[in-house]
Amino acid sequence: MSALLSPKDSSGSREVGWQEKREAAVRRKPSVMLGKVLYLDKLTVSFDGFKALNELTLHVDPGELLCIIGPNGAGKTTMMDVVTGKTRADEGAAWFGNEIDLLALTEPEIVQAGIGRKFQKPTVFEFLSVFENLELALADNKSLWHTLVARLSGPQLGRIEEVLEIIGLVNERSMTAGALAHGQKQWLEIGMLLMQEADLLLVDEPVAGMTPQETERTGELLLSLAGRHSVVVVEHDMDFVRSIAGRVTVLHEGRVIAEGDMDKVQNNSQVVEVYLGE
Ligand SMILES: Nc1ncnc2c1ncn2[C@@H]1O[C@H](COP(=O)(O)OP(=O)(O)OP(=O)(O)O)[C@@H](O)[C@H]1O
Ligand SMILES: [Mg+2]
Repeated sequence: MSALLSPKDSSGSREVGWQEKREAAVRRKPSVMLGKVLYLDKLTVSFDGFKALNELTLHVDPGELLCIIGPNGAGKTTMMDVVTGKTRADEGAAWFGNEIDLLALTEPEIVQAGIGRKFQKPTVFEFLSVFENLELALADNKSLWHTLVARLSGPQLGRIEEVLEIIGLVNERSMTAGALAHGQKQWLEIGMLLMQEADLLLVDEPVAGMTPQETERTGELLLSLAGRHSVVVVEHDMDFVRSIAGRVTVLHEGRVIAEGDMDKVQNNSQVVEVYLGE
């Protein structure tokens, strides 16, 4: 039976805890809604005639934590590739806020504009310490040489301390990143996105390979970021999605087939069909 359709424990006290965290994240949303943070309009991407995205239309609200699910090959990663400038769209539009046309920007310009992406495989610098990794990710500090020789300003130091706190690696600050546990590396990479001052965080399969404890901690971390940041999480672990998600968007064959809260999408007949067909 597909993970999506398996029975869920939605009555236990743990679920109550998650509900409080989800509600707190919603309360932190900006009071003035300045339109959408991300708006994708009929995006189409073809690979040798095969449409990985097929007129994909979706949006992300300011401060929202949006979960995107869908079977293998649905186009979830391709969507992130287009938003970050890695893959060019054939047709359609992608807007970051009201002003920024993402399809006209290069990958570094998109990072500069405030979109950060976390890949499934952590891309931390293993030979540097946790602290140095965060330092290297500072928005205005792009070179390794600069990181090794320059002095940090007070506010920069303060921000690193703040991020160490957020990602729960205060005690590991001096460890080399290579010595961290798998989950800790993932959190460090999220911390690096925070140092880049990303407003929109794109996170592809964050809990793959994590222990249950690491998975729970990751859920708490992502929820703690929502409100101040907008967060898009792609994930196959449906229990995880259920615990963190407000709105869920379901992709299949490059387009959206359902949208709503977890209960609503799980009961959608087309969603049930595509997951059973996996
Ligand atoms: N560079 C590429 N060249 C050719 N085909 C590609 C390329 N990138 C993706 N595809 C195809 O596009 C489709 C969508 O892939 P994508 O990786 O976006 O799916 P996904 O939803 O992320 O799947 P998964 O859950 O397995 O990660 C797949 O059929 C994939 O094989
Ligand atoms: Mg993928």
